[in-house]
Amino acid sequence: MSIELKNVTYTYSPGTAYEIHALKDINLSIPDGQFIGIIGHTGSGKSTLIQHFNALIRPTSGTITYNGEDIWGEKYDRRVLRSEVGLVFQYPEHQLFENDVLSDVCFGPMNQGLSREEAEVEAKKALQHVGFKEKNYSKSPFELSGGQKKRVAIAGVLAMNPKILILDEPTAGLDPKGRDDILDQIAELHKVRGITIILVSHSMEDIAKYAERLIVVNDGEIAYDDAPKAVFAHYRELEAMGLAAPQITYIMHALKEKGLDVDVTATTVDEAKENILAVLRKCNSGKLVQSDRTLSDNGQKKTERETLVSEMETDLTEDKKGGQEI
Ligand SMILES: Nc1ncnc2c1ncn2[C@@H]1O[C@H](COP(=O)(O)OP(=O)(O)OP(=O)(O)O)[C@@H](O)[C@H]1O
Ligand SMILES: [Mg+2]
Repeated sequence: MSIELKNVTYTYSPGTAYEIHALKDINLSIPDGQFIGIIGHTGSGKSTLIQHFNALIRPTSGTITYNGEDIWGEKYDRRVLRSEVGLVFQYPEHQLFENDVLSDVCFGPMNQGLSREEAEVEAKKALQHVGFKEKNYSKSPFELSGGQKKRVAIAGVLAMNPKILILDEPTAGLDPKGRDDILDQIAELHKVRGITIILVSHSMEDIAKYAERLIVVNDGEIAYDDAPKAVFAHYRELEAMGLAAPQITYIMHALKEKGLDVDVTATTVDEAKENILAVLRKCNSGKLVQSDRTLSDNGQKKTERETLVSEMETDLTEDKKGGQEI
């Protein structure tokens, strides 16, 4: 049992006219080794919540333990916690401050006690990991593009070899290829090194693809905490919270309504592709689902439908360039 929150509340500007109850009675347990997604409407409290995980902010009330110890206890050394629980900020500008990229990424490991030479080894590994080009190591972090800044900010935390990596919207501002690269590399770290990942994201597609557990924050409270599929099944309720399910969920529901007996719990492109192909194969071999049979009473319609089905199957099977299978 790694991080545990009990009855945590957080209030900004308490006792003033500007008081905001950002977190209300949060109970949460984050065991080692999970890949957790956090979603919630803007201003729901996601960033406030995750800043509690590495003691960046102190709860107004409630307790937080790390490996069973109260992180706000008098004798607790929060430096250890902060080097084991790495947080990549939503806005990289809040994290970058050295004169050049390499020094910036060296800062964390040097703070952990490594020499500059040792820190550089870690920093270069981390920069390579996030796909940051060596020719830009000497640039000022402030002359980088938004996407490059994000990479440097992630590398700065990775270089400290954290046990828990928290990323607050790491892919905002990245192009689609950059986004996939970064998330694939993070997923690899999770798989190979067993690092716990906590990913705050507005992309339901990213959550569906990578997370094994999904926490939904709504107005400072936890609305859902379950497997992503189970959460996305509540897509109507998510919509009422200003959220949505992955696009695939809507496509699968629309196909089902049209009479195709697809799996509406599919949330990723790969899952949907496999399932739609299986259903189409079933249709083609004459085993049409009930609503197909009704539609195919008319001979002409049946022929058109079968032609359409085999055309769709060909389209879906063909591997298109750029990995966009559907
Ligand atoms: N430094 C601050 N001072 C006062 N209020 C704040 C501060 N930071 C956040 N808040 C308020 O606390 C609430 C939760 O904000 P938070 O930044 O945690 O939301 P979020 O879910 O991360 O939003 P977003 O998706 O826009 O990043 C909001 O009402 C916000 O206005
Ligand atoms: Mg935020």
